[in-house]
Amino acid sequence: MNKAETYQLLTEQIRALTEGESDVVAIMANVAAAIHETMGFWWTGFYRVMPKADGEGEELVLGPFQGPVACMHIPFGKGVCGTAWKRQETVVVPDVEQFPGHIACSSLSRSEIVVPVFSASGDVVAVLDIDSKELNTFDDIDQKYLEVICSFIS
Ligand code: SME
Repeated sequence: MNKAETYQLLTEQIRALTEGESDVVAIMANVAAAIHETMGFWWTGFYRVMPKADGEGEELVLGPFQGPVACMHIPFGKGVCGTAWKRQETVVVPDVEQFPGHIACSSLSRSEIVVPVFSASGDVVAVLDIDSKELNTFDDIDQKYLEVICSFIS
């Protein structure tokens, strides 16, 4: 199976997993596990947009994930995750060392894709972050299917 065919099956599996389920943490947990197990990525998980503890605006807070421990709080506009949140669009990073402000949760991470999760009203409510130990892992195929998968979540 090529990558697109693998994603097609994964997308169908995730559609079935998420249908009829309303708990967003349960959905994110299984979506992260399904992507991670099927695609063999290094780190796969969600950061959720949450109110900051000091009441001053919002930040990204670590949500369900698969892989090594990761940083727990990411400010708006910071790192790849905060940039995808700010731009409200997918960010593909072929080489993390070339991305100014990249947040290195793991020194083994070499390339990355971050896909926003939108609410029904069009706000970013979370991001899906996937890291690879190889350079240039993510392309248009990853972006296309991961955006479909993220559309099942909100
Ligand atoms: N590298 C991300 C931070 C999250 S970890 O990769 C899991 C970033 O720059 O936003």
